Amino acid sequence: MCGIIGYTGTKRDVVKVLINGLKRLEYRGYDSCGSAVLNCEGKIELDRVKGRVDLLVQRVLEKNYKNVSCGIAHTRWATHGIPAEENAHPHTDCRNEIVVVHNGIIENYLELKTELNKHDFKSETDTEVIPHLIEELINQNLRKEVIIKSEFLQPVFFKAFIDVVSKLKGSFALAVMWSKVPGVILAARRFSPLVIGVGEEEFFVSSDVAGFLEYTKKTYFVDDDEIVFLDPKNIAFFDINGKKKNKEISLISWDIKMAEKGGYRHFMIKEIFEQDIGFENTIMRRVLPVDSNLFERETGISDNDLKSFSHIHFVGCGTAYHACLCGKYLFESFGIAADADLASEFPYRQNVLDKNALVCVITQSGETADTLEAVRIAKRNGNKIFAIVNVVGSTVSREANWVLYTHCGPEIAVASTKAFTSQLAALYVLLLHIAYKRDKLLITKAREYAKELIEIPKVIRKIFKSEEYIKKIVDDVSDKNDFLYTARGINYPIALEGALKLKEISYLHAEGYAAGEMKHGPIAIINEGMPVVAISLSTSDLELMRSNIEEVKARGAKVIALCDDVSSKYVRADWKIIVPKVSEWFSPVTSVIPLQIFAYYVAFKKGLDIDKPRNLAKSVTVK
Ligand code: AGP
Repeated sequence: MCGIIGYTGTKRDVVKVLINGLKRLEYRGYDSCGSAVLNCEGKIELDRVKGRVDLLVQRVLEKNYKNVSCGIAHTRWATHGIPAEENAHPHTDCRNEIVVVHNGIIENYLELKTELNKHDFKSETDTEVIPHLIEELINQNLRKEVIIKSEFLQPVFFKAFIDVVSKLKGSFALAVMWSKVPGVILAARRFSPLVIGVGEEEFFVSSDVAGFLEYTKKTYFVDDDEIVFLDPKNIAFFDINGKKKNKEISLISWDIKMAEKGGYRHFMIKEIFEQDIGFENTIMRRVLPVDSNLFERETGISDNDLKSFSHIHFVGCGTAYHACLCGKYLFESFGIAADADLASEFPYRQNVLDKNALVCVITQSGETADTLEAVRIAKRNGNKIFAIVNVVGSTVSREANWVLYTHCGPEIAVASTKAFTSQLAALYVLLLHIAYKRDKLLITKAREYAKELIEIPKVIRKIFKSEEYIKKIVDDVSDKNDFLYTARGINYPIALEGALKLKEISYLHAEGYAAGEMKHGPIAIINEGMPVVAISLSTSDLELMRSNIEEVKARGAKVIALCDDVSSKYVRADWKIIVPKVSEWFSPVTSVIPLQIFAYYVAFKKGLDIDKPRNLAKSVTVK
């Protein structure tokens, strides 16, 4: 996701603080960056580049800005608008007097933009509505003040900012400057992280403490719907209505490395615990109203395209392939013919590929060689390509006919976690609109499905609470070298995914198997004390899963059952991880997260390099 850094103070070289901060935030992943500094003549100096921070540094240092009172800077991870200089932050108002940096997604930016039709927009981003909105409100407020005295400008700026923040829907961490009030930075936060560093007559604002930890360990953690006022000598916190608040200061004990991971030991566990936000950002603005053209607006795919394909053919690699398998079960459960292939096996199908099939490729990086080849084979065959991708502007996203981006932010750890649940989120959105448009889902049912989908991030947050219990299971099985994961139906891909997670970061042998297959061979490997992870939620196959569990228990297995609060009453197991009950088609989300946490702590106990496992790369760009 994006990174913000800002500084106001008289002790340091503002440009240097911003550059150091951007460098400390590079780990978050980005495709463009920019900075804005305010000089004492009241002029905003704006620099933005598509590319690395080093390119921005070269440009800014060449300009040798002097007498700078404050500044804000940003690393952008593209969500709305391709990676390009004009889409990089900071964004400005019409007169380049107001500058804003933002991390998050403004859900109602299109509606807000309609209120600003006299304004000159220069980018495709949702963020750009913010400086123009502030400009509009300042102008309205100034018109009321007959005599414009400088002491009015600060409260006018503050009032306009408060009013704009209360208009915004979605997620944001913001920092804003206005050239008429040198030294002042206003900030606000909702869902996206924001922290304030406290120095001697100086303040820092950042997406995480890594941005300023080299200067100070004194920090305020900004809460949701809080507003912050900063100038070199003052800091104040307010609620969304402008009422002043008191806050406790924290002293950070992390080193820089830990700070980059938000206090977590590894990116993987940080990303596991970001899945609620990734899921929420992926479904945001894409679900309701179902009976509208919002899906076409978001992806460009027409209703006719959604209705005319013969069947949907999912293609992907690794974890993304497991999402493809979930997609197959999902679409088939709604009566829509579907298939799923490993991208590396897809070439062997090309002679029988129906050119009227919609080929849906799923890929986090958008650069996986096997997946890219599958796209090219399908296009040569005359198929249309729908891509579910995380990286905006990646090769697959550019070669597909339509793209639905997952908005989980950059995934740093090699083992894919938040990208996977965001791929599921994208599949739920795609299914909703295709099933509705193809009359497989009546509007009333579609709205029910959509309402449950919107609640899933809250369910994910409940599942996070099982972490301590899962750690106890890890202690109990830490001496084992062979694990079996088993499930049925839509959770069979989750058995495969759980086994892959354990394999790739702990180097232990783990297999995922369809539970119905056990008696056709795999049950022979069960020996005394062998851990068997059985996904046994209260879905249509619970009774069958219950007897599969009895079969392996009878042969000495140590059963780790993944249950919900209903199925846990019917299942005998050595350990029961209980997750909230959801509709069957949403159960892959609730079943995969405990298995990710389990795999992480098994590898953690073995002291392995969890973020960079041996022999693996984050993106396999070779065949
Ligand atoms: C999953 O944990 C692995 N990192 C790997 O299987 C990955 O999912 C696969 O290489 C596909 O990558 P992509 O989503 O970037 O195409």
